[in-house]
Amino acid sequence: MVPLCICVFASGRGSNFEALLTRIKEDHIPARIGAVISNNEQAGALDIARRNNVHAYYIERGQFETGDEFCQALENVFDRHRINFVALAGYLRKVPSRIIRRFPNRILNIHPALLPDFGGKGMFGSRVHEAVLASGKTVSGATIHIVDEEYDQGPIVLQRKVPVLPGDTPETLAARVLQVEHRIYADAIRLFAENRIEVIGRNVRISES
Ligand code: GRF
Repeated sequence: MVPLCICVFASGRGSNFEALLTRIKEDHIPARIGAVISNNEQAGALDIARRNNVHAYYIERGQFETGDEFCQALENVFDRHRINFVALAGYLRKVPSRIIRRFPNRILNIHPALLPDFGGKGMFGSRVHEAVLASGKTVSGATIHIVDEEYDQGPIVLQRKVPVLPGDTPETLAARVLQVEHRIYADAIRLFAENRIEVIGRNVRISES
C-alpha cells in the first residue's frame, strides 16, 4: 500500500489543515502532508505550514496567462513532492478539470453542512450557516465528499451531525460545526490511507478494518 502524500488546498485561516496535521501525527495515520497550496498570499494556512515545516506555496490563477500554465504550476508541486492525494480545506476556488482528472476519486472536500442540502456555488463560510438557520432545521453538521466537476456534488464519504440550538447565530453554529469538521477530516483520510474506500458510481462503500 502506497502511503498517502497529501496536498492541502486552503484559502483562509487553515484550522482544518492544522487539525489534520495534528491528528495524522498523533493518531499515526499512514499519511503525510507533502505541501499546502493557497490562492491567498495572506492565508493563515500558509503560516501554519511554514511553522510546521510543510512546503507552502502561493499559487493563484491570476499569476498566469492561461489555465494550462496555472495547472502546470500546480502539477509541478505535485510532482516535486510526489503528491497522490488532495484535500481541500476551505479552498474557495473551483479545482480545474485537468487536476480532477489527474486524481480520480482522490480529491476530498469538507463542507460545513449536511450535503446535498446547503451546498453549491456561492455556499461557503457564514452563508451556509445563515441558510441553515433560515430554513428552521434543527440539525446541521459536516460533510466530507469526493470532488468532481460540480460544486459540492461528488460522492459523500462521511457526515456527522450537530444540533442547531435555539438562539444560535451563524457564528455559534459555525463554531459547533467546526469542532466536528476537525475530527471528521482525519477520520476520512484514515479510511483512504487504510484503503477502505471503494467508490461505485456515486456511492462510497467503506470496508471494515
Ligand atoms: C470550514 O468551515 C470549511 O468547512 C469551509 O471553510 C471553513 C474553513 O475553515 N469550507 P479553516 O480555514 O479550515 O479554518
